[in-house]
Amino acid sequence: MASLNRQIILDRLPQGPLTADVFRLAESQMPAPGEGEVLLRTLYVSIDAAARAWMLGPTYRAALNAGDLMAGVALAEVIESRAPGLKKGDLVFAETGWQEYAAVPAKGLTVLPRVEPLSHLVSVYGVPGLTAYFGLLKCGLPKSGETVAISAAAGAVGIFVGQIARLKGCRTVGIAGGPEKCGLLTRELGFDAAVDYKAAGNDARAIHAALHAQAPDGVDIYFDNTGGPVMDACLFSMRPFGRIVCCGAVSNYDGRPPYRAMGVPGMIVTRRLTLKGFIVSDFNDERAAAIDELWGWVEAGKIAVREDVVEGFENLPDALIGLLAGENVGKRMVKVA
Ligand SMILES: NC(=O)c1ccc[n+]([C@@H]2O[C@H](COP(=O)([O-])OP(=O)(O)OC[C@H]3O[C@@H](n4cnc5c(N)ncnc54)[C@H](OP(=O)(O)O)[C@@H]3O)[C@@H](O)[C@H]2O)c1
Repeated sequence: MASLNRQIILDRLPQGPLTADVFRLAESQMPAPGEGEVLLRTLYVSIDAAARAWMLGPTYRAALNAGDLMAGVALAEVIESRAPGLKKGDLVFAETGWQEYAAVPAKGLTVLPRVEPLSHLVSVYGVPGLTAYFGLLKCGLPKSGETVAISAAAGAVGIFVGQIARLKGCRTVGIAGGPEKCGLLTRELGFDAAVDYKAAGNDARAIHAALHAQAPDGVDIYFDNTGGPVMDACLFSMRPFGRIVCCGAVSNYDGRPPYRAMGVPGMIVTRRLTLKGFIVSDFNDERAAAIDELWGWVEAGKIAVREDVVEGFENLPDALIGLLAGENVGKRMVKVA
């Protein structure tokens, strides 16, 4: 085992779009687990758009400050345990931060099965798969024959929302940036149609026109991963009694000036729309059953998994910067060991 632990520190808070120079590589002594703790070796760090939002202020977790170890969750292996219920070799998903080794409290950690490939524990059986599952099924309440629009559709969550919606008999329209992603959605991931918001200049009216061409009768469920102009465009396409699932607002995360929404509250009234925000952990009690169902769909070939694995600990900052710029298709993660 190494005696030093490489870490990535958020040296200062970014003032605009994220750049690599706000991070600093550091080396510390190997942490030692205290009573009730485990020592973890980080395997795959999940790269999450929300990590940029943590630098803006408190969200569903505390804000990051200059000088903090960069926060993040990872699939990790127990290499030493001082806690009952966990032993060397066990796999867990934990808040390790961006470091090669972490000593963390064992309380709340769950031993994960050794599936093949392990990366699926970070994608389809991890936060993205569960977010898509609960967001669509518990908040969107899809019915066969309905039309579902999804933003950031080629991202980690979006690819699963579209595929699950299709399994439920819905027509799906994915909204993504660029012709390659849009082509992939319809050719390989079973979406019925795709809208390229970048080709529409990221302008709400132009995106709405493109969406209307693909869904002329309107949208019953909009799964919102982005907020911003895409959200406005979809709001104007909503059918009466439509549901908007508010999952995330990636368009606001990376230090851009705040977007002035056009969305007309009156429309929410007259069309009797429901807007429902959620955090995936709201559904922790139903997690095991959801993973069983996702497992069945993957094994039966009903859901395709796409992952974007970046190799190397030192590439963590660039992996996050690239994700915010839309480099990824499916779940981006960094393989550290
Ligand atoms: N509620 C929850 O519990 C929960 C859990 C997990 C994630 N989330 C949220 O869900 C959303 C999707 O997460 P994810 O992990 O699927 O995303 P992801 O894989 O991290 O991808 C983010 C994608 O967002 C798109 N994007 C970036 N800037 C954009 C902009 N200004 N306008 C429109 N699209 C933009 C990019 O794709 P393009 O190339 O298409 O632009 C990028 O690939 C995020 O907002 C995240 O915070 C919520």
